[in-house]
Amino acid sequence: MDRSGQVALVIGGTGALGAAIAARLASEGADVAFTWHRNADKAAALEKTIVAHGRRSHGAQVALDDAAAVGAFVGEVVSRFGGLDTLVYASGPAFELAFVAKVPPADWSRVIDADLKGCFHAVHAALPHLRARRGSIVAVTAAGVERAIARDILSLAPKAAITALMRAIALEEGRNGVRANCVAPGYIAGGIGQDIMDAVGPEMAATLVKAVPLRRMGTCEEIADAVAYLSSARAGYITGNTLFVSGGMEL
Ligand SMILES: NC(=O)c1ccc[n+]([C@@H]2O[C@H](COP(=O)([O-])OP(=O)(O)OC[C@H]3O[C@@H](n4cnc5c(N)ncnc54)[C@H](OP(=O)(O)O)[C@@H]3O)[C@@H](O)[C@H]2O)c1
Repeated sequence: MDRSGQVALVIGGTGALGAAIAARLASEGADVAFTWHRNADKAAALEKTIVAHGRRSHGAQVALDDAAAVGAFVGEVVSRFGGLDTLVYASGPAFELAFVAKVPPADWSRVIDADLKGCFHAVHAALPHLRARRGSIVAVTAAGVERAIARDILSLAPKAAITALMRAIALEEGRNGVRANCVAPGYIAGGIGQDIMDAVGPEMAATLVKAVPLRRMGTCEEIADAVAYLSSARAGYITGNTLFVSGGMEL
């Protein structure tokens, strides 16, 4: 895929998945902007990776729950790079696994603000620019939206709503040439997926992996492959879809 002359924005570029996606888009020729939250070191490392691919990079610490801050950053990216072709939402807050009955209401508000509101703020600010370039959006969700996992509601609730948001955008913006899709990861060896495996311990981790039809965790690069495909012209007639990259765990 040749993305020369294109501009991508990755929300959550410092995450395990976001960093792999940003690096892939840069390797295919796009200039890549990204947001980060707390991880200044990973942001600096990602800037270097993008620049090493010969592309322009622009990372910023952005509070995703602040619509004005997100809007200002999207505007800054467009004025700096000249437009926007691809928006990837790959962010999501850390959360404690908990049964619904035990979820503290403050945690519920926190994940909805950071994840669901954050995604909405990003797509809302990006849409006029994506229309101008007939661009596309890919949101990283979770395979659990299809087959729920106990104690995972703090991830699944915002990701299910983000799936609905992508379908609504696909329906409403197709006439403007804008596509919107989701990539739904299963257990990935990196980021939150690896954190969860470490938290549950090796015995439970082995049980979880054994229940995956392909009997292994996925890689961050496999998620980047799917995002790269869905955001490219090769997927030009695909919109409103979710591509599960999960080893079949939701079956
Ligand atoms: N990895 C998996 O196995 C897996 C599976 C299914 C779904 N997912 C979902 O995919 C998304 C990315 O996963 P990941 O594994 O790449 O996670 P990760 O490595 O923990 O990265 C999360 C990203 O979100 C940013 N972030 C966290 N809290 C934030 C907040 N309050 N406001 C703004 N940004 C915030 C982080 O920024 P900083 O690092 O700068 O703080 C980082 O860029 C998550 O929503 C996750 O639930 C992951």
